[in-house]
Amino acid sequence: MTCPMHAFDPFDKGYLADPYAVYARLHADQPVFFSEELGYWVVSRYDDIKQVLRDAQTYASRNATDPFTPVSAETAAVFRAGGYAMQRVLLNADAPVHPRVRRNVAAAFTPQRVAQLAPRIEALVARTIAPIIALPVREVDIVQALTYALPAEVIFLLIGMDADDVPAIKAGSESRVVFTWGKPTGEQQVALAQDMVDFWQRAAAFVAKRVDEPRDDYTSDLIRLRNGDDAVLSLGEITSVVFGLLLAGHETTTGFLTNAIVQLLRHPARWQALAADPTGIPAAIEELLRLDTSVMAMRRVTTVDVTLGGQHIAAGSNILALIGAANHDPAHFVEPSVYDPTRSDARDHLSFGYGAHYCIGAPLARLEAQIVLRQLVQALPTAHVAPDQTMEYLPNTSFRGARSVRIRW
Ligand code: HEM
Repeated sequence: MTCPMHAFDPFDKGYLADPYAVYARLHADQPVFFSEELGYWVVSRYDDIKQVLRDAQTYASRNATDPFTPVSAETAAVFRAGGYAMQRVLLNADAPVHPRVRRNVAAAFTPQRVAQLAPRIEALVARTIAPIIALPVREVDIVQALTYALPAEVIFLLIGMDADDVPAIKAGSESRVVFTWGKPTGEQQVALAQDMVDFWQRAAAFVAKRVDEPRDDYTSDLIRLRNGDDAVLSLGEITSVVFGLLLAGHETTTGFLTNAIVQLLRHPARWQALAADPTGIPAAIEELLRLDTSVMAMRRVTTVDVTLGGQHIAAGSNILALIGAANHDPAHFVEPSVYDPTRSDARDHLSFGYGAHYCIGAPLARLEAQIVLRQLVQALPTAHVAPDQTMEYLPNTSFRGARSVRIRW
């Protein structure tokens, strides 16, 4: 059923700045409703969302990256001309492709590969923080200075791409977010598609280079694991995985690091507690993932008729599962808007998803967050958010993180 009462608009500035007030109303009044504007059933309660994520057969992922603005003929022509050939491999794939690709991609994403990155991330973070501490003015935009590029630099280390490509990939990622999870006009869609084609071509050229000259990196591991056998992974699938990681692997972490820093620095006592005792950082990260995650919503489509939260939903219906709302469901978390790093069930959050599509990069995201927070609280123990600033967010349903945050110390 539709919900005129709530006029749910995920692209509205007020919602983007603070979606949690809307979630509280949805939990109380209409936890499952149909949004005519989106053409999606919107789900906000923890138990309902877990039910959706746990059952990949009933709730398929094939709509996960469908643009909300239908692809125009002009946009399709841009993709064709640019040889854009993204395949369904992970996020928007279902059985039988998803389990096969996921098995191989996960097999190559070994704990050793992640552990190997730790000293390099430590060095990268130290190198990035040093010029911040040395600034004569004790104020900086922490997004621009730290959280924007760093996660991309880390993912580049993982997949073996040259760091010179970071600015282009970061700019291209924003186009992908707006194209897929935003509501661009027809004209904007064509321009965004051109950016995506450029992005795709970079990924394809990079994979082709690694086929000829394998190195000690994750992309070469996938090519070795393939061993020339398309039944394991085709080269098109490897290119699609790399193209996927060039968004999933950093846009998410940029948003989370930014949200975490804002949540801690708006209440300097939280920050000072971590500066005094950095052993509390892993628990704080779990609570921050719950309190203010960066991936707010995931999509599914029903393969059969279902009843969810008391609503009958026909087969073939689109579902928008509000992960950020699940994390704030008072039926699951006591006083969900309170930051409490000692809460025993913080790790119940759904910020990395649940079930078949559970985030492959969760260990890397946690590692990055630990290193960044530990070094930053030590370097700037007196930091706080500068007053009088309005934080802006990219208008889209799923990826959330302020685009600029001035901090002082
Ligand atoms: C704080 C940072 C991150 C957050 C909040 C996050 C969140 C998520 C969520 C919610 C999903 C599930 C999607 C679904 O169920 O449809 C997911 C999947 C995924 N994530 Fe992450 N992620 C983060 C970091 C990363 C990193 C660093 C990487 C790569 C190294 C990564 C790679 C992936 C991939 C490949 C998938 C798709 C898995 C599949 O469909 O089987 N993520 N992530």
